[in-house]
Amino acid sequence: MSNPVLVHSLEANYYTDPQIFQAEQAGLLARTWQYAGHVSQVENMGDYFAFQIAGQNLFCIRGRDGEVRAFFNVCQHRAHELVKGVGNCKVVVCPYHAWTYELTGQLRSGPNIKAVEGFERAEICLTEARAEVFNGFIFVNLDENARPMDDWFPGVREELRAFVPNIDELKPLEWVEVPERCNWKVSVENYSECYHCAINHVTFATGVVKPETYDIQPQGYCLRHTTECQNLDAMSYPIDLEANEHAGDYSSWYLWPLFSFQVYPGNVLNTYHWRATGPDTVTVWRGWYTVGGTESDVIRTLAIQDRQTTVEEDIHLVESVQRGLDNRGYRPGPLVLDPKCGVNSEHSIRVLQQWMREGVDEI
Ligand code: FES
Ligand SMILES: [Fe+2]
Repeated sequence: MSNPVLVHSLEANYYTDPQIFQAEQAGLLARTWQYAGHVSQVENMGDYFAFQIAGQNLFCIRGRDGEVRAFFNVCQHRAHELVKGVGNCKVVVCPYHAWTYELTGQLRSGPNIKAVEGFERAEICLTEARAEVFNGFIFVNLDENARPMDDWFPGVREELRAFVPNIDELKPLEWVEVPERCNWKVSVENYSECYHCAINHVTFATGVVKPETYDIQPQGYCLRHTTECQNLDAMSYPIDLEANEHAGDYSSWYLWPLFSFQVYPGNVLNTYHWRATGPDTVTVWRGWYTVGGTESDVIRTLAIQDRQTTVEEDIHLVESVQRGLDNRGYRPGPLVLDPKCGVNSEHSIRVLQQWMREGVDEI
């Protein structure tokens, strides 16, 4: 039998080179589904919020027909930005010369445009980006030919609904902002393996998760974390195990490249949203939700506990790795690929690094 070929970790320049980061902004991050915001931010007709994806300014707005649309945040006249922050409007009015657009993006009017011979109002429209509402979470893809999210992440929409039966009623209660001094890929990789968990997360081996059952497997461009749970009676909040099928379960769905849905026992949804802010900086937003966004001591306490334990422990790991990637002594080592997968295997990193490599090399 021949020795299996070792798979080595991704070369350091993928995480440190500003040119690679620029290539990702123009390519990978502009051709994948990115989280924009939650539908509760655009509850009423004309509600809007501005956001950024892949270095581009955009905004989401709810139309008269109830549709949520995403547009590049730029006037088609002479390029002034259209909206800032959040708000509500009946029509979108450009602050520069007051060209006015319908909520569908169509140009409606502009001072003195009728004086211009051959000016075809109907031909001018804001540039729209692909948007999908995924269980109440709005995702946008700057690639107009992108396949729908259900193709990218097969089965995830339905699984999430089964794990969080009231997902349609949820609203964000809290966003915990976590700046990390590392490349976004370092943070995402750290999220996507549990080889480091036993020695770095003290509560991991003794907590709710049963480490020997932990596994991470690809599901399209999703990395699905599954595990059995134990000690549910030691949880810091009450769980009604009879409430529904998945009331006692833990799972997470990482959606390549910058978002993850995570469900704790008791159907408690929380999310990770990575924002790649530079070659060696990323901000992670931890989202916590309740029905209608109502106040909850349980959720607030969970958010604090999470920030003080897992999140805090991981920050030190990823920032040390980033310093290591800048160290000229680093030669990428072999990934620990256990044919049986499981908690102490890096098979998920192999998949992730393949996507990372393709995202840069295809350009
Ligand atoms: S740039 Fe918007 S109206 Fe002129
Ligand atoms: Fe961790």
